[in-house]
Amino acid sequence: MNVLVTGGAGFIGSYVVCELIKAGHNVAAYDRQITHNSLDHVLSGPQSSNLTLVAGDVTDATKLGEILRQHRVDAIAHLASPLSAQTEDNPDLAIRNMIQAQHVILEVARAANLKKVVWASSVAVYGRPQQYPTLPVSNDAPHYPMSLYGACKSFNEYLSSHYTDKYGLDTLGLRFPAVYGVGRMRGAAMFLDLIEKPALGLPCRLPMADAVYDWLYVVDAAAVVVQALCASKTATRNFNVGCELASLRQAVATIREWLPDAVFELEPGEYPIVEEYDCSTLRAEIGFVPQWPLRKALHHSLNIVRTRAGLPLLG
Ligand SMILES: NC(=O)c1ccc[n+]([C@@H]2O[C@H](COP(=O)([O-])OP(=O)(O)OC[C@H]3O[C@@H](n4cnc5c(N)ncnc54)[C@H](O)[C@@H]3O)[C@@H](O)[C@H]2O)c1
Repeated sequence: MNVLVTGGAGFIGSYVVCELIKAGHNVAAYDRQITHNSLDHVLSGPQSSNLTLVAGDVTDATKLGEILRQHRVDAIAHLASPLSAQTEDNPDLAIRNMIQAQHVILEVARAANLKKVVWASSVAVYGRPQQYPTLPVSNDAPHYPMSLYGACKSFNEYLSSHYTDKYGLDTLGLRFPAVYGVGRMRGAAMFLDLIEKPALGLPCRLPMADAVYDWLYVVDAAAVVVQALCASKTATRNFNVGCELASLRQAVATIREWLPDAVFELEPGEYPIVEEYDCSTLRAEIGFVPQWPLRKALHHSLNIVRTRAGLPLLG
């Protein structure tokens, strides 16, 4: 299959690019920042020869249309988006790069008669725990977004389903929870520093240490995107995705088992959004089962950082 990955030089996009290449697909990665991005940390030498890297903005419908034709693209993995912190003080950025961008992707995909658009939604579509009396949050639970980012993702779910219902375009949204791993360059501090700093023996300051997250390792996030791209049309359009619930304190305690001298400064505080999601619809419709529980993934990623730095591996 020929796949266009938007946001293909970003964190999740880089792993999706690698996973697709590994599985024998042809990949065009499209991103407005193709250098000094996560791809530099994720892509290995031999893989780069099977990749076309294109610099461009996802709101540029003409350029995207040309790429779809040139590369005979069959499907799009749409992962280009600003993250929550970037959009809260900049509604214009949110509307252009989330809503307008989604509209452009759906339009070019429809015009080119593509097989499928898989895209990244977010659990930020959900609201406070008090709004969900029954846990885990079911796949079709109502949305009560608490941020502009969450509201845009929620609207994009509606827009994508509209394109499926009205025009028959096969769209599939994945509501990612907290995605972590090596190579993340943007987003909340706890997911940027938690691995790299202790792995290198540097002190690490973490906000909201009492917060409980659903932790999805980026390798699993990439695997579910690839599996979704290859799946036949599902009955459901947008899916909860998750792996393992744990507090930040539990993640830190796990790291300390291997690195007892690691210095963490933990600031108390909780995350305001409900964090327990029912992912059985995703499992039933595309068969995705995460392979990387938190303990295994932390060990794996700490050792990636240590290998690169020439430090001894953790046993
Ligand atoms: N990382 C997480 O924990 C998480 C959780 C939920 C949802 N998501 C979603 O997953 C997707 C990927 O997130 P990520 O963590 O890889 O973020 P990232 O910031 O690492 O990657 C996003 C990439 O998109 C590119 N981009 C942004 N706007 C663009 C535009 N207009 N045109 C072209 N390129 C553009 C950026 O340059 C960046 O490389 C996003 O849609 C995000 O909302 C991520």
